[in-house]
This record gives sequence, structure tokens and C-alpha cells, in this order.
Amino acid sequence: MSVFLGIDIGTSGTKTLAIDETGKILASAVDEYPCYVPKPLWSEQEPDDWWNATVNTVRAVVKKAKLKPADVKAIGLSGQMHGSVFLDKNDKVIRRALLWNDQRTAAECAEIESRVGGRKKLIKLVANPALTGFTAPKILWLRNHEPKNFDKLRKVLLPKDEIRRRLTGEYATEVSDASGMLLLDVAKRKWSKGLLEKLELDESLLATCHESEDVTGQLTPQVAELLGLSTDCLVVGGAGDCAAGAVGNGIVKSGVLSTSIGTSGVMFVHSDDVKIDPAGRIHTFCHAVRGKWHMMGVTLSAGGSLQWFRNALCQAEMTAAAKQKTSAYEALNAEAQQVAAGSEGLFFLPYLSGERTPHADPHARGSFVGLTLAHGRGHMVRSILEGVTYSLRDSLEIIRELKVPVRQIRASGGGSKSPLWRQIQADVFGEQVVTINSEEGPGYGVALLAAVGAGAYKSIEEACAATIRVVSETAPQKAAVKRYNAAFPEYQQLYRSLKDDFARIAALGS
Ligand code: XUL
Repeated sequence: MSVFLGIDIGTSGTKTLAIDETGKILASAVDEYPCYVPKPLWSEQEPDDWWNATVNTVRAVVKKAKLKPADVKAIGLSGQMHGSVFLDKNDKVIRRALLWNDQRTAAECAEIESRVGGRKKLIKLVANPALTGFTAPKILWLRNHEPKNFDKLRKVLLPKDEIRRRLTGEYATEVSDASGMLLLDVAKRKWSKGLLEKLELDESLLATCHESEDVTGQLTPQVAELLGLSTDCLVVGGAGDCAAGAVGNGIVKSGVLSTSIGTSGVMFVHSDDVKIDPAGRIHTFCHAVRGKWHMMGVTLSAGGSLQWFRNALCQAEMTAAAKQKTSAYEALNAEAQQVAAGSEGLFFLPYLSGERTPHADPHARGSFVGLTLAHGRGHMVRSILEGVTYSLRDSLEIIRELKVPVRQIRASGGGSKSPLWRQIQADVFGEQVVTINSEEGPGYGVALLAAVGAGAYKSIEEACAATIRVVSETAPQKAAVKRYNAAFPEYQQLYRSLKDDFARIAALGS
């Protein structure tokens, strides 16, 4: 038997799954961990928590699927992108990792632009502008704010690559995740010597960069023993969670676009060649498909907005749901379902951790606008679903403007499990939205990459064609499309109106 594991180091937890050669899921397991917010808009995690969760979930999957060590031929790694694991000369973690949604580096982003001579020149070097969530500004933040820690720094690894180091002893990464460090020449698929020089950073800080399906190492004897696997087990490059989720969704050819609603929301489209938004509003990164690229827009608080609302305001529903072994989200969705499209004029701006696409504004704030006495909780929930979807449409509009072909939209992620949220997506985008047979996202994508790396398939395109098919279709409803087309410009205008207020509020301090 040939089995492939996908391990996804997510923000709320690590998920591991096992598939066989046909793509059938044999078992999966999840282990959660905390996220630390030591100051407003900071966001950190402990790499040890990721490692413990990796060990627990791999062992759980091995046990559930009754796998023998020789069964597991290869592992693919996926994870939250952009995070910074800072290691000293003994591979000891120097401080907690700064995450993708950490917004502390506005000054460092400005520093990067000024060191290279402006935004345009930076986009030329690495295809993207400096955004607070990306890794390079985090390294500069360490140098500027924690010089003692910076003096100890010998390697900077992305979250999944730190897990790879602990699995294999190798410092390795791959092109899709490396693109989000803002240090990769995305067009050439290798580290940008030009930018590293301007930032006075040594290339030795970085891992060796591979294509996503390449083998990067094998399990060390101690780890193989700990996990119940063999030292013959290969570890392939894998992918950042956006590209991995896209592969898991079959987004490996031109014309197919995916929306994924997890903690963050991602609008992702495959591109056969490097297309760059000159305004830098959406990202151009290397795809996990050899020699291909992708463009994507990111809503920082997508499912995260609904989760915030549930946690802050729906304790009773959470307790009741826990007792009945259901989910509070089902109760909230049912309330939102009673409200008409447009939430009777209530808008929600999902900028709870600032915003990435299209505003790149760490100061933007979450807002309900338009509340009246007629609005109840169902309106608030529906306006959150709508606000997040408008935010994804912001990305879709840019993709359309850049003339990237879009023939099919595939919805995925926890948020898209809700039929209501899928309908809202179809109505807000004005397009049919489909789902596919696998709902496993990034873990599934990298398990497929592992299968390719181990030789079970010739290419990732072949692996996806063999395993992924469309299982549901949600058509746009005419009246709702009209309603949302009228409301969308108002949603866009609200940010423009509030932008300066957000900056002043941020300047007041928290
Ligand atoms: C992508 C991004 C997020 C994280 C979340 O650019 O920042 O989607 O990868 O896991």
C-alpha cells in the first residue's frame, strides 16, 4: 500500500490527513493551539506548539488508518504563510514567531521601499509591494526593535519549513511560500540577491528554495521512530496554504479561480505566465505547479470576522451548541437566512486586523455602518457574510481588470460549507459557484504533491485530474445579484470615506 500524508500548520490548529494512491482519504486529525496577541494588531505563535500538534496528529492518523511504517511513502507540508521563525546558531527558536496577520511592521515596509528607491522598483525586484504581513519587514522589525535577538539570528524559516527542519534536519523551502517572504525574485523563482543586498541581509539566513513537488529530505531516525514511520519516507516541498489549498481544489490550470474562506479569505487564480498588478493591489506568487504562477487577494479577517462575532457576542449559543454537539455557526446562519439580501442597508467592513487586499492598510478597522432600530442579530450576521464576500469581490474585480481568464469559481474553506454563504458568493460575484469532492483544502493539496514527489503521478495536473471533481453548483439569483451590484459600490465607498478616520483612530492609540 502507498500512503501520502498532508500536514497543514494552520493558524487555529494543525491538520494532518492520509490519502491512498487514488486520493481517497484514509484518516485525518486536528490539534489546536493558541494565538498570542501581546499588543493590539500583534499576532504570535509558539513553533513548539506547531511541532507538538504535528506529532500528535501524525500519530493519530497512523493509528486511525492502521498504517505500517513502510506504508507512508511521502509527506507534503503546508502552512500559514509569511510567519517568521527566528533561529539561533543552535537552531533554538529566539522568540515567538510573528504571523501573517501581525500588523506591527508599517515603518519597516516604508524602510524597504525607501532602501530600494520606491514601490515600483520593489515590485520589479520581487513582483509585490511591501505589506505588513510579509516576512522581510518582520526581519527588519527584529533588527530595529530587538537588536540583541537580531544578533543571535542565523536562519529565518516559514512555519511549515520549521516543521520540515524538525522532521528532516534540512533548511529547505519551496517557491510558493517563499514568494510571500518578499525576498524571492518571483519571475525567476530564486532569491533576489538585489533586494537582499539593499536590505543588508545575508542570503545564508534563508533556506534552499525548491519547486513544490521536489523531494527536500527524508525523516531522521529519531523522528521516524517518534511518528511510527520509516526513514525512507520522503518529505516534498509542499506549498504555502493558499497554493496548497488551490491544488487541493484543482486550481492547476488557466481559467479556474477559487475562493477560500478560513480565518482569512483568499481569492486565487492560476496563471501560465507572470502577470503583475502594477499598482501592487493583489499578489503575484509562484504557484505550486512547476513553472507556473498565481495571483491572489487576501481578506485578513474572513471566517475570522464571523468567529470574532460568535466569540464576543454568542456565548449562550456556543454553550447550547456544545451541549447538543452542533455548531453555534448553524444557529447564526439560520438567523441570517431570515434576512433579505442586502441586510436592509446594514454594511460590515471586515477590517478587524487591518486589511491586505486591496487597501494594504494596517490601520483599517472593522465597522458596522448603517445600523437602525430595525436591525437584529440576524442582520448583523448576514452583513458580516456579505461584507467578507464584498471584500473578496474587491480582489475579483482586480483579477478581471488584469484580464486573467475566469471560467469557473470554486468555493472552499470552512465558510463555504455554509449553503447560505455559498449563495451569497454566487450572488455577490454574479457567477455560478461550484464545490468539489474534497473539502480538505491545503492538507489534501500537499498530500497530492507528496504523491507526485514519490512518483505515483507524473505531474500535479495529472494527480488533480485523477482525484478532483465538481459535486455541487450554486447559481446566482437575478434579484439578489441586482441588489448586490447596487450595494457593492457603496461598500467600496465606505472605506474611502473612513480611511482618514481609521488612521486618526489608530494614532489615538488603543
Ligand atoms: C496569505 C495569508 C494567509 C495565511 C493564512 O497571503 O496571509 O492566507 O497564509 O493561513
